[in-house]
Amino acid sequence: MRIDIITVNPDLLKSPFNHSMMKRAIDKGIAEVHFHNLHDYGFGNYKQIDDTQYGGGAGMVMMIEPIDRCISKLQSERNYDEIIYMTPDAATLNQSTANTLSLKENIIILTGHYKGVDQRVRDAFITKEISIGDYVLTGGELAAAVLCDAVIRLIPGVLGDETSALTDSFQDNLLSPPVYTRPANYKGMKVPEILQSGNFPKIDTWRNEQAYQRTQQIRPDLLDE
Ligand code: ADE
Repeated sequence: MRIDIITVNPDLLKSPFNHSMMKRAIDKGIAEVHFHNLHDYGFGNYKQIDDTQYGGGAGMVMMIEPIDRCISKLQSERNYDEIIYMTPDAATLNQSTANTLSLKENIIILTGHYKGVDQRVRDAFITKEISIGDYVLTGGELAAAVLCDAVIRLIPGVLGDETSALTDSFQDNLLSPPVYTRPANYKGMKVPEILQSGNFPKIDTWRNEQAYQRTQQIRPDLLDE
């Protein structure tokens, strides 16, 4: 998978790709991530990429032309399956979206800043808009890193243990059951007997029950989906 990220602040974005699972995916050649500084497509000496908004109001709006130039250049080089815009005023990212995106070949991610982008960018270029939650970040860079992490770890061959993504929270709309490791008894806090029983069918049933109970308590909305 190739991911092209368009940003006004590439340095803010790069570090998460140099660690852990995203680095492993890149090192293995399974994922390729390219950063494009929108200022390189801006106007004049200051490489301007934003302007005041029509109709008045505080906050700058990212202009269509630099974004058009950057996206058009990328599109002249290859076809893209999705052009994603990270923005708080969109549907929230979930595991199902991450699963779907992990099967794509080439995607562009546009990160917003200030008051966001001129609506015509969204109308003309964007095929999918994603929020990572109901709160506003300073820019879309951290949101893009979150999206990439959620997607890249699902690409076949990235995770060492191929089954582990399948048992993640949310994979079947349930939160994960509790997990334990040694010691079996820590200051009187004991690991449930069932997990030490070696009876794997019973352990599976117990885990499913725990996952269901946890979901009912903490995220009952997931059970409605
Ligand atoms: N940009 C600013 N806030 C955001 C959010 N919550 N999700 C995605 N992009 C954003």
